[in-house]
Amino acid sequence: MGSSVAQLAAMHGHEVRNIDVDQPSLERARASVDRSLERFVRAGRVEEAGAERVVELIDYGCDLGAGVGDAEVVIESVVEQLEVKRAVLREAALAAPSSCLLGTNTSQLSITAIAAGVPEEAAERVIGMHFFNPPVLMRLLEVTRGQLTADDTVARTEEFGLTLDREVVILAKDVPGFVTTRISAAVRLECLRILEEGVASAEDIDRACKLGLNFPMGPLELGDFNGLDTFLAAVESLEASHGSRYHPPAVLRNMVMAGQVGRKAGRGFYRYGDDGRRLD
Ligand SMILES: NC(=O)c1ccc[n+]([C@@H]2O[C@H](COP(=O)([O-])OP(=O)(O)OC[C@H]3O[C@@H](n4cnc5c(N)ncnc54)[C@H](O)[C@@H]3O)[C@@H](O)[C@H]2O)c1
Repeated sequence: MGSSVAQLAAMHGHEVRNIDVDQPSLERARASVDRSLERFVRAGRVEEAGAERVVELIDYGCDLGAGVGDAEVVIESVVEQLEVKRAVLREAALAAPSSCLLGTNTSQLSITAIAAGVPEEAAERVIGMHFFNPPVLMRLLEVTRGQLTADDTVARTEEFGLTLDREVVILAKDVPGFVTTRISAAVRLECLRILEEGVASAEDIDRACKLGLNFPMGPLELGDFNGLDTFLAAVESLEASHGSRYHPPAVLRNMVMAGQVGRKAGRGFYRYGDDGRRLD
């Protein structure tokens, strides 16, 4: 997600630093941006020169403090774990300018809980900036203010979202799961229960949703695309806030424990080749 948010920002003329924990992660991010840009060029949506410019606008590094020293906007997009997000956003807040927007791309954690990790004066600049996968194609930016988020932060985030040509929806309350994650998790969990009950195969559940309900992608293939480990963490956290309706079925736990976490692992509900294409 982080590399695609970086690409989206660069495609709209922003200078970006993509920061990760190690070189292999950065190389994966760079390769993913290259592949995506190739597709944009092949589809005639971006010129060769434009793609080269996007590549030039993204810088890669592992030093978070140095990377955000002159940033206007930070978008934390690390693993969906509260403690990790708190620590990363705190480090960013300490090093970034005192006017910098501190966005978090959490899919469902409380923005207020993440903001509790930053120094007190920075909490008013923390805000949920929820992008969708892949950010370069998906038009929505779901914005959530935390308990301490300032009005000015909300207004600046909306302006920033418009510079990325996204449609911005601003929620009135900080509730775990926001609007979209609550709805999509409920739908995907029901698909998993149907699968577990043996009512239909993964493929047929996806086909039924696409053909009968007009879903652009089946919920299970979308689960593979987003990562089942990320989904399990999300529903565990939604269960903690909203109760047993988000209880993860055994089939999901088993797949994650077996490493069958979706496209990035080559195996989830479906199988994938090294290039991420579906094999069956
Ligand atoms: N996958 C999706 O479809 C999707 C959609 C919307 C939002 N999100 C959110 O985006 C975030 C990232 O999700 P993802 O699917 O890209 O996960 P991922 O596991 O693929 O990527 C997480 C990245 O964070 C890096 N990271 C971990 N700890 C770090 C640290 N301390 N400092 C810097 N980098 C660190 C990892 O090296 C990795 O590159 C999560 O909060 C997730 O909920 C994901």
